[in-house]
Amino acid sequence: MSDPIIRVTDLAFPRFSAPDLDAMEKFLVEFGMHRAARTDDALYMRGTDGQHHLHVTHRGEPGFLGFAFHAASAADLRTLAAATGGKVEALDEPGGGEVVRLADPDGRSIDVVHGIATLPPLPVRGHEPLNTGAARVRVGALQRVAAGPSQVKRCGHAAIKTGDPPRLWEWYRRHLGMLVSDDFFLEGPEKPIGRFARCDKGAAPADHHTLLLVEMGEAKLGHVAWEVADFDDLMLGHDRLAQAGARHYWGVGRHILGGQIFDYWKDPLGFTVEHWTDGDLLDASVEAKTFPIFEAGGSQWGPLPPPDLDF
Ligand SMILES: [Fe+2]
Repeated sequence: MSDPIIRVTDLAFPRFSAPDLDAMEKFLVEFGMHRAARTDDALYMRGTDGQHHLHVTHRGEPGFLGFAFHAASAADLRTLAAATGGKVEALDEPGGGEVVRLADPDGRSIDVVHGIATLPPLPVRGHEPLNTGAARVRVGALQRVAAGPSQVKRCGHAAIKTGDPPRLWEWYRRHLGMLVSDDFFLEGPEKPIGRFARCDKGAAPADHHTLLLVEMGEAKLGHVAWEVADFDDLMLGHDRLAQAGARHYWGVGRHILGGQIFDYWKDPLGFTVEHWTDGDLLDASVEAKTFPIFEAGGSQWGPLPPPDLDF
């Protein structure tokens, strides 16, 4: 197996297209994002971290366009361009930066980016520490959480469906340096139908999954997920989205593989978008494992998956 060309450090943002940027912005504000920039043709939304944007909507027919991943360095962009016959281009949009534009074997547009401007982080509403049965640390301080949208921190992971998982996997392994966290199977462990993959950050912790690849017979977006401040914050955001009339899809629960507390919603385009918090972190030394599908689609607690669950 050849070495990866580079090792990306994280998912940066998805690109969608929508005819009505106002409707997208209205939903994304309720979802817990803030406008970073808006042009005649595109909307750039940020979270509380310093990243300039973590969701982009281009004006156009409703659709999913692709993803951007963070390269570790400008030098990595040059390495990637040289190895793929591509070029390093200036990103002609708010935040600037540089990009190598690729397409995965299913035809998704994959931007590998570096040097996008950062913004001052936004203040995060916190709350008093939690008392547990084992540690009653909050004494005399009253627990009061402020209502409002969730506080989206960063773009965390995406699930993509494909007709050819081995081919797609080899592309992400080779071009972006992804590592296998867990495979899952329907019939037997020798025939996996899905793979949770994480970024290779060496000894530094990485989210259990940055990408989930699922064999579904067609190339399609599954969902995109953003990390929020904490559990209370996720629940406050749940209430806010429900009050705003957003369409709830699945949750609140705690996943088995990845361990996150999750809450899934539908955006105005009908795509599945997720809030999550408290996910498992692994360094690059952790070996891949294989599980039956119910551990991938099931929960440690929370409601059963919707009948039409498509990850
Ligand atoms: Fe997810």
